[in-house]
Amino acid sequence: PVVALVLAGGTGSRLYPASRADRPKQFLSLLGDDSLLSRTVSRARGVADDVFVSTRPAFADEISEHAPDAEVVVEPAAKDTGPALVYATHRIRETVGDCVVVALPSDHTVGDSFAAVMRRGARVADETGSLVTFGVEPTRPDTGYGYIEPGESRGDYAPVSAFHEKPDAETAHEYVEAGHYWNAGIFAWTPDALLAAARDSPLSDLVTDLTDGTDPERAFDGVAEVSIDYGVMERTEDAVVVPAPFEWDDLGSWDAFDRVVDGNANGTVSVGDVTVRELDAADNVVAGDDKHVSLVGVSDLAVVTWDDRVLVVPKERAQDVRTLVDELKQRG
Ligand code: GDD
Ligand code: MG
Repeated sequence: PVVALVLAGGTGSRLYPASRADRPKQFLSLLGDDSLLSRTVSRARGVADDVFVSTRPAFADEISEHAPDAEVVVEPAAKDTGPALVYATHRIRETVGDCVVVALPSDHTVGDSFAAVMRRGARVADETGSLVTFGVEPTRPDTGYGYIEPGESRGDYAPVSAFHEKPDAETAHEYVEAGHYWNAGIFAWTPDALLAAARDSPLSDLVTDLTDGTDPERAFDGVAEVSIDYGVMERTEDAVVVPAPFEWDDLGSWDAFDRVVDGNANGTVSVGDVTVRELDAADNVVAGDDKHVSLVGVSDLAVVTWDDRVLVVPKERAQDVRTLVDELKQRG
């Protein structure tokens, strides 16, 4: 069978101050009434009958509000997507047995052919025993994504020649020129394929401990905090890429809303529950929780106000909010 595994354990720091440590982006309703997580779980049901949701301990209780019928897998400690995916995939192998896992982040918007492409990817994962990535045609040198260099096409898929996570701007530009894909952040694999690849990574001790039946809490002691992209995908020799020709976006940073939400006559978009007034202002992203925002003579900004906090950032620097939040965290 095919099992969908929805990732919902991140904090979404680039969407500060809407997302905060105790209120991550996947629980927010930033597009319409449903939370990003509940939208993702509905989408996952179009791909597989079995839906699992992977999260960190702090979010475990709230998951069921957004995903009432899903199985929840709580990793013992929040260590990024590498350990989370190894742990959840191991648990799925224990409960479901042989299957193909399709791992879906909970911060995406996708277009129509999504489910059909996921099923194709699951079939490729089953037939090749490789780690399947999904490649999106890039439209700009975005530094927030991974890049995939494809080898020669074998029909539905191509081998991955190289995987590069979040390059700097200059390198991203070269990758786009060279015809590399964006990594959609969605993966398909059999449990055996992922655990074998993770044995050749900083997560090898975790794989050994889990398969030996070590208590998960102990297996997570001292485990590397690393994303699946840096930890496994950049290292493995056994990955393939399936083209993903559907509309796709990652709602990871405020500039993304510019692309997925229709603007007003001035090209400004509103996110959440916000009333916007503008005088000689244009092309801004304004987000808030029941807020009234006025802008005079400014353009290309993201202006975000949630609770008692305000963030103002040029749209083109929206990725840097992560650095700001890291600093705020360090100061406590
Ligand atoms: N269970 C669990 N535990 N989930 C987590 C954790 C964790 O510790 N950390 C993050 N997640 C979840 C997030 O909630 C999100 O749904 C998903 O994992 C991906 O995390 P992001 O933080 O959004 O990753 P990214 O967008 O920076 O990068 C990834 O996705 C890009 C495309 O959307 C990478 O795979 C890139 O290569 C890719 O281009
Ligand atoms: Mg993301």
